[in-house]
Amino acid sequence: MAKRPVIIDCDPGQDDAINLLLAMASPDDLDILGITTVAGNVPLSLTERNTRQMCDIGGRTDLLVFAGCDRPMQRELLTAENVHGSTGIDGVDIVEPETPLADGHAVDFIIDSLLSATQAIALVPTGPLTNIGTAIQRNPAILDRVAEIVLMGGAMREGGNHSPSAEFNILADPHAADIVFRCGRPITVFGLDVTHQVLATVERRERIRSIANPAGQATAGMLDFFNRHDTAKYQSLGAPLHDPCTVAYLLQPDLFELKACNLTVETGSELTMGHTAVDFWRVTDRPHNIRWAHAVDADGFYDLLVQRLERFSDE
Ligand code: RIB
Ligand code: CA
Repeated sequence: MAKRPVIIDCDPGQDDAINLLLAMASPDDLDILGITTVAGNVPLSLTERNTRQMCDIGGRTDLLVFAGCDRPMQRELLTAENVHGSTGIDGVDIVEPETPLADGHAVDFIIDSLLSATQAIALVPTGPLTNIGTAIQRNPAILDRVAEIVLMGGAMREGGNHSPSAEFNILADPHAADIVFRCGRPITVFGLDVTHQVLATVERRERIRSIANPAGQATAGMLDFFNRHDTAKYQSLGAPLHDPCTVAYLLQPDLFELKACNLTVETGSELTMGHTAVDFWRVTDRPHNIRWAHAVDADGFYDLLVQRLERFSDE
């Protein structure tokens, strides 16, 4: 597969962090033009710092990391320390990163990169869609250079994880999400219906713990912490590894089963704010604007994650 230019937009968050390591472990597949950060799981000052610490762990202190929007387009900031801990990446020791924070706002980087791109760029958002929605609203001309958007967010059969009917990323900024889902570019969506099929079970976490390098050890430590909330809530065998579904799809798309359908976001009702109405059975004539991931080879997913994490050197 030819090396693809990508911009990853994230809110680390343990699962975002692991997704970043998976991307950094795949330099023959992905050309990470930059990593943009957004307020989400924890405030922006922490998501940008956590991202830079992952670049250190991944041996990529050269990567451009930008701070973006520190609150949603219209709503108040919503965070999830109850899931991710006060740092956002509880499970690893927090150290001041070597990787510097790049000058400039993430939204400007997204716009400038797309407008100057000679090859269309894949956008990989795994947090609230504030940066992406703001960039599209500010300069819609960028869309011509967006190859595709591969995002984690939404839910259909799984209901909500931060409200009874909404998944966190979409609920946190439903107005930005609405802009993205109406943008007309190819969008592949990894919602809770598929991410709840890739559970970090004990066996899988022990496989990762046996990887004797900083990336493997950081991943194991973050999963140990990340596991506690969802296993207690769902009485499940492990926490769903949401965000790494996006990069895993870019690396090995045949791990997933997708279906073209319509997804529309609720932005009016406070009761169901951020709900993603996924017309999986095509009961309306709404146009197909996404491909919805609904099945995954979970063992193959973890084989890929382990195989890539093992690539990192052990110093
Ligand atoms: O609902 C799960 C999503 O919300 C994941 O992206 C997680 O990191 C949080 O951002
Ligand atoms: Ca996230």
